[in-house]
Amino acid sequence: MTDKNPFSRRQFLAATSGVMGAAKLYGQGAAGEATPAAKLALQGGPKAVQGGLPQLVRWGQPERERMNALIDQTNLFYWKGPQTTLLIDRFRQTCPLEHVMTCSSGTAALHIAVAAAGIEPGDEVITSPISDIGTVIGVIYQQAVPVFADLGRNTYNLDPEDVARRITPKTKAIIAVHLAGNPCDMHALKTLADQHNLVLIEDCAQAWGAKFRDKPIGTVGHIGCFSLQAAKHVTSGEGGVVASNDPRFGPLLQRFGDKGMDRLAKGGLFEVFATNYRMSEPQAGFAAAQLTRVEGIAEKRSRLGNLLNDKIASTPGIEPHQVHPDDRSTYWFLMFRVRPESFKCERAEFVKALVAEGVPASAGYIPVPLYGNPVFQKHGFFAGRWPLKEQGLTTMDYAQVACPEAEAILKTGVRVTIHEGMGEAYVLSLATAVRKVATHYAH
Ligand SMILES: Cc1ncc(COP(=O)(O)O)c(C=O)c1O
Repeated sequence: MTDKNPFSRRQFLAATSGVMGAAKLYGQGAAGEATPAAKLALQGGPKAVQGGLPQLVRWGQPERERMNALIDQTNLFYWKGPQTTLLIDRFRQTCPLEHVMTCSSGTAALHIAVAAAGIEPGDEVITSPISDIGTVIGVIYQQAVPVFADLGRNTYNLDPEDVARRITPKTKAIIAVHLAGNPCDMHALKTLADQHNLVLIEDCAQAWGAKFRDKPIGTVGHIGCFSLQAAKHVTSGEGGVVASNDPRFGPLLQRFGDKGMDRLAKGGLFEVFATNYRMSEPQAGFAAAQLTRVEGIAEKRSRLGNLLNDKIASTPGIEPHQVHPDDRSTYWFLMFRVRPESFKCERAEFVKALVAEGVPASAGYIPVPLYGNPVFQKHGFFAGRWPLKEQGLTTMDYAQVACPEAEAILKTGVRVTIHEGMGEAYVLSLATAVRKVATHYAH
C-alpha cells in the first residue's frame, strides 16, 4: 500500500459537497464489510479493539549519540554550533529552504516569521480559528490583528473563499495552519496572496513530513514554521524551526530570533528590535537525531490515517477527515465528524462508547475557536488592555466574530489518535469500533 490517500477524486469531491455517505448503503463499510451488530462494550458487550494503545518508542540510539557528542563540546551556544549546523542540514533534507533559523518553540518560529514579514501595527493577518494559540501570539505581540476566517467542513483548514471575503486594505499576511498535518489548499491561498500582495506564512507545527501535492510542506508559502514541542511528530522537548527561500524575508529570520542581532554583520549595533528565541545546542542535537525519523513517521501515519478514513468513509452519519487525494497528510490526529441528526445520542455518549470499545478517542479539539477565549472576548492582551484598539488602529471586536463552520467542527468532531507505533490490524479494529458504535446509535 502506498501512502497516497486512497480516496478517489470522485469521493473527494463528494465529501466536499457533503453528499458522501448518504448515498451509500446503510450498514456497509467502505470496502463492503458488513457492519458489526455486537452489543456495545459500554453495555457489557465484547470490545471491538483488543489490547491497549500500542506503545510508541520515540527515541533511542540516534538521540543517545547526539547527547554523547554534546558532552565533549565546550560550548552549547547555537551560532555555528555543530548540533545546530547538523539540525539545519537535516531540516533542509526534509524541507529544502535556504534560510533556516532554529528557535525555542513553534510560537517563536511564527513570531519570527511575522516580524520578518514586516507586519506593522494595525495590519491584519488572516488565519484559522481552530489552532494552537501559538499561531497568533506573535501577531498580537507585533501589534497586528488576527482576523479569523472560516474553515472547510471536513478539511478543518482555511476556506479560501472565506479568506478572500475577509481581505481588506489592511491585510498583510495569511497564516495557513495545516491542522493535524493535513495540507491546506495552497494553490488557492497562494493565488490570493499573489493577487493581494500578501505574505503567505505556513504553520507546519502539526505537519512534519506532510506534502502539498509533491511539495514538502512549508515550501509553497513565503515562510514555513515548525514546532518541536513534546507532543509533535518529532521533538526536542520544546523547539522550533522557521525557514524561507524568499530573499526579502529569509535573511531576517536569524536576527528576529536572536535579540535583533545580525551575527553576520560587524559592529554589534542593533538595527531591529526582537526578543531572544534562540535554541540551545542540546535541543538542536536531540532534534537533529529526531529528524532522521521524520520520513518513516510521516509515511506510517499517512498510511494508517488514510486506512482508517477509508474504512469509516461510507458509514452513515460519519464524515471522514478530508484529505486531497494528491496530498500527504501526516495525521497528527484524525478527526471525523458525526452528523447529529443521524444518531440517537449526543456526541459525548458516542465518544464514551468508542472509548469503552478501546478506541483512543476524544470529543473535538480545542474547547472553543481561538476568538471565543476570554482574552480575545475582552481584548485583554496587554495587562487586560489592547492599546491598538484604544488608539483606534483597529475596529476588531472579537465578541462579534463568527466562523459558523469552525464552531460546528468543534461541536461535532471526534478525534482519534493515530501514531506510528500502531499496526494495520489495530487500525482496522478502530474502524470496526467506529462502525459498531455508529450502527448502534443510528436512527
Ligand atoms: C498548529 C500549531 N501552531 C503553533 C503551535 C505552537 O507551537 P509551540 O507549542 O512549539 O509553541 C502549535 C503547538 O501546539 C500548533 O499545534
